Order: sequence, then C-alpha cells, then structure tokens
Amino acid sequence: MKEKLQELYSRAITDIEQVNDFNSLQNVRNTYLSKKSELNGLMSKMRDLSPDERASFGQLINKIKSELTEKIENKRKEVEEKELQEKLMKEVIDFTEPNTTFKKGSKHPFNAVVDQVCEIFIGMGYNIAEGPEVELDHFNFELLNVPKDHPARDMQDTFFIDENHLMRSQTSPVQAHVMLSKNGEGPIKIISPGKVYRRDDDATHSHQFGQIEGLVIDKNVNMGNLLSTLELFARSMFGEKREVRMRSSYFPFTEPSVEADISCFECGGKGCSLCKGTGWIEILGAGMVHPHVLEMCGFDTKEYQGFAFGIGIERVGMLKYGIDDIRRFYTNDIRFNKQFDKE
Ligand code: DAH
Repeated sequence: MKEKLQELYSRAITDIEQVNDFNSLQNVRNTYLSKKSELNGLMSKMRDLSPDERASFGQLINKIKSELTEKIENKRKEVEEKELQEKLMKEVIDFTEPNTTFKKGSKHPFNAVVDQVCEIFIGMGYNIAEGPEVELDHFNFELLNVPKDHPARDMQDTFFIDENHLMRSQTSPVQAHVMLSKNGEGPIKIISPGKVYRRDDDATHSHQFGQIEGLVIDKNVNMGNLLSTLELFARSMFGEKREVRMRSSYFPFTEPSVEADISCFECGGKGCSLCKGTGWIEILGAGMVHPHVLEMCGFDTKEYQGFAFGIGIERVGMLKYGIDDIRRFYTNDIRFNKQFDKE
C-alpha cells in the first residue's frame, strides 16, 4: 500500500507541476484531494492493516495530504497571477492611437462678438451688468422717457406678456436698473450684453437679437468722452485706421442723441458696395443721458452727467465678417458656425 501511496504522490506532484490554468488545477485538486479521490480510497483500506502499520500509514497519508494541499495552493496563486497578467496584457489601451471621432467645438459667432466687445470695454475699466429679458413696461419705456402714448413706442413694438410685462425691446432698461441701485451715487461705468425682442423679421432684422448697452455716469462727463470712447472701441474692433463720426439723431432717453458711423473698413472711406458709396458705416446709437432720465433714476443733474450707447451684436458681426443675412446666426448650420473657429 505504501508503494501505491508513493506512486500516487509522485503522480500528483507531476500533475500539479504541469498545470497551467485554473480549471485544470481544479481538476487536479478533485482527483487527489476530494472525497472520491484515490487518496481517500486508500484511507478506507487502512482498516485491513495491523495497528502499527495503520498508525505510520495514517501519518504518512496525512503528511502527503497536507503537502499536496500546500503545493496546490501555491500553484493556485501562481496560476491566478499568470491569468491576471495575461488579462491585463490583452486589455492594454493604446493612448497614442489617433482619435478619429472627436470633434472640437467652437465659439458661436454671436458669442465671439459679445466676448470681443466685452473684452474691449473691460480693458477700459467697465463692469458687466445684467438685466431681465422679461421686463416691466416701467423700465423698458417709462423710466427711459417713453410714456404710454409716446410715438417712439411704435419703433420698438414687442411681445407683451400682460399689460405691464413685455419681452424687453432694448438693453437700455439695464441703465435704469443700475442707476436706481446706486441711490444717486456715481460713478457708473457698465456695459450690458443681452438678448432683446421686437416685432421684426427680414434679412437684417430678427424678432430676437442681441445688444450691448453702455452707460457712464460721473461728474464732468461730456460728448468728447463719448466720442473718444467710441473711437477706441471702433479701432480695437475694426482696425487702427478707423475714424468715427457722429450724426445728430433722436432717442427719447438721450439729449443730444447721435448715431455713430465708422469709416468703411472695406474701402478705407473711398466708397464701395458695403458702405453704399458713402465711405461710412453706421454702427450704433448713443448720446448724453437725458436729464429727465437721470432725475427719474435718482441722480442730481447739477452734479452728474452721463453718456450711453447701444450696439447691435449681430450688426457688428455681420460687418466684421461680411455676413449677408442675420438669420445665419440662428439656424445653427455647422458649416457656417465652423468658420469662426479662430475667434
Ligand atoms: N436702445 C436703442 C435702440 O434699441 C439704442 C440706443 C441708442 C441705446 C442710444 C443707447 C443710446 O444707450 O444712448 O434702438
């Protein structure tokens, strides 16, 4: 029986050594250590032995059992480690492989213009102010010197929500919000970009568009300050050589009111199709803040004056990039939007 045991032992050792994967190891364990194993079969034959032989045989069989258990356990660790390494090797991700599906987004041309304009004015010390798009009639019109029956309301017909609430037709009400928040104490130096709404719809007008409002209130502010501010803006936005001229105009909330033109950047002022032969392009409305508006918004007109301006965002974009139709800003045609990748 001892020889049988010896033979079994060396067979088990060879089998364990040859095993290379977890499943085969499991089979080897079943063959040599399970209840139905040969080893257990031999144990049941022990009763045929003499008591002495039985004792030494029992010891031997236990020793073999624990040795095989240990060897199988060691092999298990070895095989598991090997299988893990193989799995990791197969799962290796090649970070250097070129990615063909990822597309980098770009700034929408509308936002590109807003960012450029804001950057120019922030450079001049302006802060950004915001106001609501659903506005009270009081702020959109009355505080800006446009009472209920004023004919200037016709130019800015917009979407009313009820008698007192409307989609703001201009960013100018932000002027009133900011002034009232200051309790009559200057200085104020803000710009306010945002969306506005009107009953308009053609190649150069949309029912929704963007404006950037500017407001400066301080002591000793005059038209010269307004002109030099607009010149600095025009030159930063449209090129060093731009000249600015102011034409007399009318806005209810400014007095005097002007429309500012820049010398045409296409022809340098000689006259071309862009400037319709005049050499000048209109870019914004502006003026000195009307004393009545200052008063309604809590400022003492003997102490404070101010200027304001309103810039059309899409208009600046259309001029700067030669865009022919305002609706291109809103249709989200990727081929159009992608052209402003660099802005
Ligand atoms: N709010 C005017 C408009 O939408 C534009 C404007 C003109 C704004 C003159 C101003 C200004 O601040 O001073 O037509």
